[in-house]
Amino acid sequence: MALIGLLKPELKLILFGGKGGVGKTTCASSAAIYLSRNNKTLLFSTDPAHSLSDSLGQKIGDEIKDVKGVENLSALEISAEKALSEFKMEYEDEIRKIFDTSTYLDKEDIDAILGLPIPGIDEVMGFKTIMDLIEEGKFDKYILDTAPTGHALRLLTLPELLDDWVKVLAKMRWKYRYMVTSFAGKYKPDSADDFLMSMKRTVKKIEGLLKDQNRCEFIVVTIPEDMAVLETKRLIDSLSKYGIKVRQLIINNVIESRDCEFCRERRNVQERYIGQMKDKYTDLNTVIVPLQAGEVKGIEGLERFKEILFSG
Ligand SMILES: Nc1ncnc2c1ncn2[C@@H]1O[C@H](COP(=O)(O)OP(=O)(O)O)[C@@H](O)[C@H]1O
Ligand SMILES: [Mg+2]
Repeated sequence: MALIGLLKPELKLILFGGKGGVGKTTCASSAAIYLSRNNKTLLFSTDPAHSLSDSLGQKIGDEIKDVKGVENLSALEISAEKALSEFKMEYEDEIRKIFDTSTYLDKEDIDAILGLPIPGIDEVMGFKTIMDLIEEGKFDKYILDTAPTGHALRLLTLPELLDDWVKVLAKMRWKYRYMVTSFAGKYKPDSADDFLMSMKRTVKKIEGLLKDQNRCEFIVVTIPEDMAVLETKRLIDSLSKYGIKVRQLIINNVIESRDCEFCRERRNVQERYIGQMKDKYTDLNTVIVPLQAGEVKGIEGLERFKEILFSG
């Protein structure tokens, strides 16, 4: 079997997720090369341990770059830290205003609050970067190499987290608004309100996109080993809890050769786990990818790998 349906024009965002070391980056890069044949494609990663540069065999980094040797393909390693500091620079005044007009905090208190790390906010901003890119519409396809499972799942809980955060701030504003209207009789929305509204819209948009099966697809990558099988189940279950339905599963590093005692033994062990997954995920399109003798990296290596992913 091969990966299917990724050329559908309405499908915009394709995420590759799974445990560390199972082949997410390799699959995401190869899929991006495949799609770039007919689509302007952006390959990007949110894994803090970026490896697109290693996989593609060329330096990428936190600005969008054309991939050398592949037409129509650009790549980006999103720096959550950079996104957060840009966000702070852009919105600090607004955030300050929210605290300033809503509470009895003095300047020092507000400085202290703004300096505090808000859990997950850097990743939210990473995702906001993605959302903004998609809205700009410069590319037809967006391929995301996600961080290993735990991290990626945290990313999915972020719309909720950010929503809570916006709610708390909005509540402060409402109290302030109430005071203003009772004393002055009139309330004029200001830039802090605009900011809250726009954050709220971003959250809704991220959520909407992730849950939209026509526009977004999450492909799970795994290997036929006990721990990977367990993590795959956790990932698929959690995704389903967030309303994201997985349709395709890649089982990577499968040993094909039965020519030696070692290969036969390994293959038998693998077969047990492949069987378990096939029994459990009867509704998934499962793609078996053989373990390659050589390293899979650089454009040439990925071109060959892509043939396996897309022609079976
Ligand atoms: N089918 C395969 N055969 C041989 N090597 C592979 C295969 N899939 C991936 N690799 C190699 O395994 C390593 C880990 O893959 P990578 O895609 O970086 O995993 P992840 O992104 O999930 O951590 C890389 O060096 C990659 O080239
Ligand atoms: Mg990786």
